[in-house]
Amino acid sequence: MNLFDVYPLYNITPVKALDCTITDEKGVEYLDLYGGHGVISIGHTQPDYVAKLKNQLDNIGFYSNAIQNPLQVELAEKLGKLSGLEDYTLFLCSSGAEANENALKLASFHNNKSRVIAFDNSFHGRTSAAVAVTDNKKIVAPINAQQIVTFLPLNNIELVENELKKGDVSSVIIEGIQGVGGLDQGTTEFFQALEKLCAAYDVVLILDEVQSGYGRSGKFFAHQHHNIKADIICLAKGMGNGFPIGGILISPIFTASYGLLGTTFGGNHLACAAGIAVLDVIESEKLMDNVNDVYAYFLEAIKQVPEVIKVKGRGLMLGVEFDFDVSTLRKKMIIDKHIFTGNANNKNLLRILPPLTIKKEAIDTFIIALKEALAELK
Ligand SMILES: Cc1ncc(COP(=O)(O)O)c(C=O)c1O
Repeated sequence: MNLFDVYPLYNITPVKALDCTITDEKGVEYLDLYGGHGVISIGHTQPDYVAKLKNQLDNIGFYSNAIQNPLQVELAEKLGKLSGLEDYTLFLCSSGAEANENALKLASFHNNKSRVIAFDNSFHGRTSAAVAVTDNKKIVAPINAQQIVTFLPLNNIELVENELKKGDVSSVIIEGIQGVGGLDQGTTEFFQALEKLCAAYDVVLILDEVQSGYGRSGKFFAHQHHNIKADIICLAKGMGNGFPIGGILISPIFTASYGLLGTTFGGNHLACAAGIAVLDVIESEKLMDNVNDVYAYFLEAIKQVPEVIKVKGRGLMLGVEFDFDVSTLRKKMIIDKHIFTGNANNKNLLRILPPLTIKKEAIDTFIIALKEALAELK
């Protein structure tokens, strides 16, 4: 049987990884400034994480959500403490799209409405409602298009209010910082107005922190830079450092009832062990401090590259913008310089999403390689 061919692949076969280094089958080492789409938070094969997963596997890897699972409770407690949102509750699932799907559904159950406001250039995943609120017609199939969604530009609060006034909007979904779209973000003024309007019009504010959460922005959640509170926060990517786990944090305005949400795999023992190990390492290694330090260092260091016109994003969720399409540059960085970076809908951006453990020396390595690559392409 062949694989269904949906991914354009680089001809690289990683066989080992440690912290920010990936080694391929020929022994070539790559600097990972992309974390496999922003998934690697505490570094590849972090020893405490590996030990915790191995130990969990030796005991019990999975049972359904019909039994007591103290690991879920431990994970929720740690997550509440580290995010500062102890009064929220946690529903566990297995991916970012599933988190968004559950958030949109919970919002609709809650206020009995169905229209969603999403933003231009958004990406929220590939399942039913999640893909319908994603601003990319190419990946929305007719079966997904039956959802009622209105896309608006970021940072235009009047347009949002015009829609909310109509009374049929269930939720507004917004990324803490846009990922796939190209690192644009709402201003503090916009986020704060959005929070107020949602409360005034009985609309659920959903913060998609699947990519921007888990310390990546320098605070636990990117929206916390704007001093607002969301009604539902969606998580995945960094949450398991590669183990598939997602979740939604649910504010106290929602009431749970048996059967309202559910999943077979979500919150299983192995996933929780991964999630707990990640939170323990983020806390003990003070990774959010590292994010802020390396971010400040990056902003200074990138000034050595005159071709860069802007750095978008925040923390270790960055887009380095040029005034040309960077596809060739990105390819050269991987093939010749052995550095993984990412791309975005905005073709002029190199996306930087390294493990949160990245050191300043790795930024130096990146800058030297970037300068060389740019010179070689001239
Ligand atoms: C902001 C955001 N939301 C949702 C998703 C979907 O997550 P998953 O691929 O785990 O379903 C992604 C994935 O890139 C994302 O960046």
